[in-house]
Amino acid sequence: MLIKLRNHFDLKAFEITPKTVFHQRRTFLKAAAVAGGALIGAMAPVHARGINFAGVAKSKWSEAALSEHDQISTYDIATEYNNFYEFGTDKGDPARYAGRLKTKPWTVNIDGLVENPGTYSFQDLVRPHQLEERVYRFRCVEGWSMVIPWVGIPLTDVIKRLGPTGSAKYVAFETLLDPKQMPGQRRRVLDWPYREGLRLDEAMHPLTLLAVGLYGEELPNQNGAPIRLVVPWKYGFKSIKSVVRITFTDTQPPTSWNMSAPNEYGFYSNVNPLVDHPRWSQAWERRLGGETNIFGFVPKRPTLFLNGYEEDVAALYAGMNLAKNY
Ligand code: MTE
Repeated sequence: MLIKLRNHFDLKAFEITPKTVFHQRRTFLKAAAVAGGALIGAMAPVHARGINFAGVAKSKWSEAALSEHDQISTYDIATEYNNFYEFGTDKGDPARYAGRLKTKPWTVNIDGLVENPGTYSFQDLVRPHQLEERVYRFRCVEGWSMVIPWVGIPLTDVIKRLGPTGSAKYVAFETLLDPKQMPGQRRRVLDWPYREGLRLDEAMHPLTLLAVGLYGEELPNQNGAPIRLVVPWKYGFKSIKSVVRITFTDTQPPTSWNMSAPNEYGFYSNVNPLVDHPRWSQAWERRLGGETNIFGFVPKRPTLFLNGYEEDVAALYAGMNLAKNY
């Protein structure tokens, strides 16, 4: 990330003011309603994409690794403090500028080593009955984290329908390339389009989600509408937004941050408090949009191995040296 190290826990946005307290209360209620299902269920309309977000059930994977210390982050922080460099590098830029992105209609190209390649519409790819709500920890490599209730479809369900061939070992993802709609792409901050990749078994792990909503609503553009990846045991930058291409391949695909700074960002990017970023520790994090201490600050908390999902995903990395494969 293009971190201004001087201030990489940029917490100005979280100073407590009556306004933020108000928003927190409102959004906490909203989050609680999502968790409870019923309240929102009574109010929410069926969405224009034909998705009744309110009717989406929680899956057994929801809250898989959460504890009572994992309060759901406020809606406002999740949708106003973002990384989406296609719209600028300031945390507020995505909320400010992503509104101009046209997400309807939306298609995703499927290619490479797969039995059913082609151009799929959002509706072809996302079957409403397969949607689930998943409350996940989300840890950014910059040292902050959130707890977000996503709505999405397990990527494995999509992959099974697409039918990778026997030689496919990796899945590569690309974000839309359109500098007219994405002004940040006019600057060569990264080698556009934004690219990410997973090993096929990581992509097919039941925790890996293609998210289309959060907090019981459609994804706001700044969060990667209409469809983005969420891989809860990896640093946030693996969770690529506004995906337009999914490619099955037999070789490890290039990824944006690895191309930009290979010594800082590896292909795996698993959350690992034991492997520091070359310029800062990864042992601690600050949970945003949640509890503050008596001074109104967000305290540091220890980062958990594989972001707390160790029990579920550690087997994927059995025998691997995770300091080397960072
Ligand atoms: N995807 C695209 N296309 N462009 C980006 O700049 N930023 C990544 C990831 N996905 C990014 C992206 C980073 S660094 C993080 S931490 C998360 O999105 C942030 O997701 P959020 O804004 O929904 O919290």
